[in-house]
Amino acid sequence: MSIPILKNLLPLLFLLILPVWSSTSNSTNESFLQCFSSHLQDSNSSLELVFTKNSSAYSSILNFTIRNLRFVNSSKPQFIITPFHESHIQAAVICSKKYDLQVRIRSGGHDYEGLSYVSDVVPFTIIDLVNLRSISIDIENKSAWVDSGAILGELYYKIAEKSKVYGFPAGSCPTMGVGGHFSGGGFGTIFRKYGLAADNVLDAKIVDVNGRLLNRTSMGEDLFWAIRGGGGSSFGVILSWQVRLVPVPPVVTTFNVQKTLEQGATEHFQKWQTVANKLHEDLFLHVVAGVANADPNGRKTIRLSFTCLFLGPVEKLLALMQDSFPELGVERNNCTEMSWIESVLYYAGFSTTNRLEVLLDRSPLTDIFMKAKSDYVQEPISNTGLEGLWQRLMEKEQSQLILTPYGGKMSQISDSETPFPHRFGNLYQIQYSITWDDDKETQENLMWMRRLYAYMAPYVSKSPREAYLNYRDLDLGENNKNNNTSYAQASTWGLKYFKNNFERLVHVKTLIDPGNFFKNEQSIPVLPS
Ligand SMILES: Cc1cc2nc3c(=O)[nH]c(=O)nc-3n(C[C@H](O)[C@H](O)[C@H](O)COP(=O)(O)OP(=O)(O)OC[C@H]3O[C@@H](n4cnc5c(N)ncnc54)[C@H](O)[C@@H]3O)c2cc1C
Ligand SMILES: *[C@@H]1O[C@H](CO)[C@@H](O)[C@H](O)[C@H]1NC(C)=O
Ligand SMILES: *[C@@H]1O[C@H](CO)[C@@H](O)[C@H](O)[C@H]1NC(C)=O
Ligand SMILES: *[C@@H]1O[C@H](CO)[C@@H](O)[C@H](O)[C@H]1NC(C)=O
Ligand SMILES: *[C@@H]1O[C@H](CO)[C@@H](O)[C@H](O)[C@H]1NC(C)=O
Ligand SMILES: *[C@@H]1O[C@H](CO)[C@@H](O)[C@H](O)[C@H]1NC(C)=O
Ligand SMILES: *[C@@H]1O[C@H](CO)[C@@H](O)[C@H](O)[C@H]1NC(C)=O
Ligand SMILES: *[C@@H]1O[C@H](CO)[C@@H](O)[C@H](O)[C@H]1NC(C)=O
Ligand SMILES: *[C@@H]1O[C@H](CO)[C@@H](O)[C@H](O)[C@H]1NC(C)=O
Ligand SMILES: *[C@@H]1O[C@H](CO)[C@@H](O)[C@H](O)[C@H]1NC(C)=O
Ligand SMILES: *[C@@H]1O[C@H](CO)[C@@H](O)[C@H](O)[C@H]1NC(C)=O
Ligand SMILES: *[C@@H]1O[C@H](CO)[C@@H](O)[C@H](O)[C@H]1NC(C)=O
Repeated sequence: MSIPILKNLLPLLFLLILPVWSSTSNSTNESFLQCFSSHLQDSNSSLELVFTKNSSAYSSILNFTIRNLRFVNSSKPQFIITPFHESHIQAAVICSKKYDLQVRIRSGGHDYEGLSYVSDVVPFTIIDLVNLRSISIDIENKSAWVDSGAILGELYYKIAEKSKVYGFPAGSCPTMGVGGHFSGGGFGTIFRKYGLAADNVLDAKIVDVNGRLLNRTSMGEDLFWAIRGGGGSSFGVILSWQVRLVPVPPVVTTFNVQKTLEQGATEHFQKWQTVANKLHEDLFLHVVAGVANADPNGRKTIRLSFTCLFLGPVEKLLALMQDSFPELGVERNNCTEMSWIESVLYYAGFSTTNRLEVLLDRSPLTDIFMKAKSDYVQEPISNTGLEGLWQRLMEKEQSQLILTPYGGKMSQISDSETPFPHRFGNLYQIQYSITWDDDKETQENLMWMRRLYAYMAPYVSKSPREAYLNYRDLDLGENNKNNNTSYAQASTWGLKYFKNNFERLVHVKTLIDPGNFFKNEQSIPVLPS
């Protein structure tokens, strides 16, 4: 679906519908819309800004960035606001607050639990930043301003358009939104050298609960700290980010070497657990585990894909692999040299001969049901532990693990530098996921995932059992249901996502949004006064 559909509807709303409403009773609907239009400084009436359930484009706009079928039939917003300008966001915040409408903020819509477009409290408004996606690249100063509604693919594309020797350390899936990804951390194939997306933010613009537009200087260092890993949705609407571009070499090298259980996957994985986080920071070697056929009779096995991105030429990579992981047997013709932007295509699952324009495509590759969870591993998992893990994965063909090595730059940044606390001492992160395409399987698959997670408890980080905010999981402890955002309740998941940074996040939240306007099932709570 293309964007122009957003541009054909709204004049009707202001020009025709409002006058009709004003003669009826004073509903939230009409008051909110009156408030909203009266606050618009930029009242270009040919811009489509508000969609109600009566608007013909309402469903397509709502659906446009729903990335998980589990939430297509959830509660629906009263209004969807699609700002083109900062004043539209300011008006949306001021008027939602005035009329006690919950707000959901959506950039790319990839939230694993749909928190950017589903609300357990109704009525609610979605502020959807799909139209705020400008990007300006400043090669001379090695920086860029990126709007929250841009997707990562657009950012990578725009950088490559200007220079082949700069990149940005963020995630692999090009349709992810900048707003959620940066504010929750954001890691990708070069994070062992450069850290997270959030570690490379230089400035930001945010609309706070009072509708004020703030930058780094005017928001202060506490809030600027909080939005670089603490999640944006507790603090305000982040419009745009200034980020540091990072150098990448003209030639990078990839390989993907696969091992099934019959080919010694477990032994290779044992070695990987001890070396992956100690490899040269230019060398990213992650593992994707999934179910495969062991033979034509349908017997199942586990297949591990050892996939590499090396920031340099093949000779240097082969020498490093020979030094640290010769058992994997990587040879020259397993490797492909390419440019960094081609490696972005490669990790996004495209052929490297694809046109770069595929990175600009915002539509989802697939419509699926999905559930995911995360863990951090600090001691190698024993063979017994792995055997049980493989057995459980084999129960579900559509299960997958992504095992992401830490170390390098990630170990050099202190736990409290940003709210993202998973730094020194982690060997790797696990993402467990399962997908399915029939709603009838939903309950069973959620239960399966919870059993798998329970099984893994002895093998992963403890007290707290750490988790990655951007792999949002509403199973983690009790949630802020029924407007209950008590500290005790929130700390069950808060400590997992943020460890000791949780307390500082609560402190910042209490200062910046004491009335707890920006809230959801896992937003940072306000200290009782
Ligand atoms: C297919 C897929 C692949 C992924 N791969 C990676 C990966 O490689 N690396 C990685 O680190 N993560 C990855 N993730 C997780 C991803 O980082 C998070 O889902 C991230 O939050 C997505 O951002 P978004 O803007 O698309 O999400 P949204 O759903 O729009 O937002 C997520 C959260 O952030 C809030 N938010 C969004 N925009 C703003 C804003 N402008 N101001 C304030 N709050 C805001 C929302 O309210 C919501 O709470 C992946 C997710 C998916 C679905
Ligand atoms: C409708 O509500 C708004 C806000 O509460 C108020 O300012 C306005 O006077 C009301 N209008 C009528 C007709 O009651
Ligand atoms: C607003 O309009 C919707 C229908 O579009 C209705 O369900 C809802 O009750 C209205 N809200 C108020 C407060 O009048
Ligand atoms: C109003 O917005 C439209 C669509 O973006 C644009 O073409 C037009 O120039 C704008 N008009 C003014 C006065 O800004
Ligand atoms: C939607 O349209 C119906 C019928 O035209 C009307 O009765 C109702 O008030 C409208 N609601 C909103 C929120 O526009
Ligand atoms: C939105 O998605 C739901 C579920 O897939 C579907 O029933 C509905 O028709 C979609 N709406 C639009 C406008 O695409
Ligand atoms: C959503 O609800 C519609 C109508 O009840 C149903 O046909 C559809 O299958 C549901 N979709 C999902 C993904 O649950
Ligand atoms: C780089 O930054 C300096 C100082 O902020 C500024 O004067 C200059 O215009 C910037 N360069 C470009 C190309 O924007
Ligand atoms: C930040 O905002 C302040 C106050 O509006 C302004 O004076 C300052 O120039 C801004 N800083 C930057 C870097 O834009
Ligand atoms: C790696 O290269 C060797 C030698 O050409 C080949 O036998 C092997 O199949 C390759 N492995 C993969 C995973 O491509
Ligand atoms: C939630 O709680 C706050 C503070 O206790 C209160 O002001 C607000 O009205 C409540 N909101 C809802 C939707 O219950
Ligand atoms: C809120 O949660 C806390 C901690 O779980 C609980 O003690 C308290 O009773 C809850 N309050 C309400 C109003 O549900």
